[in-house]
Amino acid sequence: MKKLWKNCHIATMQNGQYSSIEHAAMVTSGQHIHWIGTFDDVPADAYSETIDLNGAWVTPGLIDCHTHSVFGGNRSVEFEKRLQGVSYAEIAASGGGIASTVRATREASEQQLLASALKRVRCLLKDGVTTIEIKSGYGLDYANERKMLRVIRQIAETLPMTVRSTCLAAHALPPEYQDQSDAYIEHICNEMLPKLYQEGLVDAVDAFCEYLAFSPAQVERVFKTAQSLNLPIKLHAEQLSSLGGSSLAARYQALSADHLEFMTEEDVKAMATAGTVAVLLPGAFYFLRETQYPPLQSLQQHGVRIALSSDLNPGTSPALSLRLMMNMGSTLFRLTPEQ
Ligand code: NIG
Ligand code: FE
Repeated sequence: MKKLWKNCHIATMQNGQYSSIEHAAMVTSGQHIHWIGTFDDVPADAYSETIDLNGAWVTPGLIDCHTHSVFGGNRSVEFEKRLQGVSYAEIAASGGGIASTVRATREASEQQLLASALKRVRCLLKDGVTTIEIKSGYGLDYANERKMLRVIRQIAETLPMTVRSTCLAAHALPPEYQDQSDAYIEHICNEMLPKLYQEGLVDAVDAFCEYLAFSPAQVERVFKTAQSLNLPIKLHAEQLSSLGGSSLAARYQALSADHLEFMTEEDVKAMATAGTVAVLLPGAFYFLRETQYPPLQSLQQHGVRIALSSDLNPGTSPALSLRLMMNMGSTLFRLTPEQ
């Protein structure tokens, strides 16, 4: 049976130009859109239901391709510290940052993590997100990474969204491996990742390539393992310094390299050639009060495809709205609304 949706604005992208239909209506049957137009032109038919959208916008479902939606605790204290002039790197070096969320996430049960994550993801859903990527990376050992990934699968079963899980075991060094980062990388590659993959919990692999996390050589080890498992890869790269992680990601045909404030012209060219998407995260840029801008002009000149995402996480982007990120993409990064 057909349903009539009335009293809305419909966003259109005909011929690559963005526009809208005002005083719009829509006819659906099952999961399909059957007809779109102005309310005055609604086809005469028998409708099983008429739904008043009260002036809402109808748009394509939004995709949030970089989130850390599952975590324990919160980092409000650090927000305050940063306002007093302590940097993200200094907080991390003194045992805060990602490490503090790791402690809280390890302490939380699967049920607690699910309950808190569902609240956040529901906010994104209400904001128009219909597909979401969620990373692990606050467990940093087999049992706790597994716990996070299982929660991600449960979110997929609970909400009417497409949910993809990414294993980010190489996010930070766990306390058990202090001063042994190579040994932790070996543990990820030989034990954690293959096991978690075999359990059907992993759709993609990510890492944090940064001077306060893992080196390009260590990330490459993780990429090789991902490749051997046929898993797509992505990378946190060039967020705080320039290490060439985005070039490395491009060499491995990564889906995306994300953050990118400190990328070089060479990185841009490598990503353009590989077709690796540049995921810009204006929320993290904003919350860290970053002053180095991702090279928008160069990315556009070389034809690198750009995506925006929330980077929803407790430390650098406690943001629950992808529409706000679109706004920030314009106000902070000067992307046009059409872009
Ligand atoms: O995307 N850069 C590393 N990872 C996250 C931050 C995680 C955290 O601070 O908890 C990011 O910004
Ligand atoms: Fe991130």
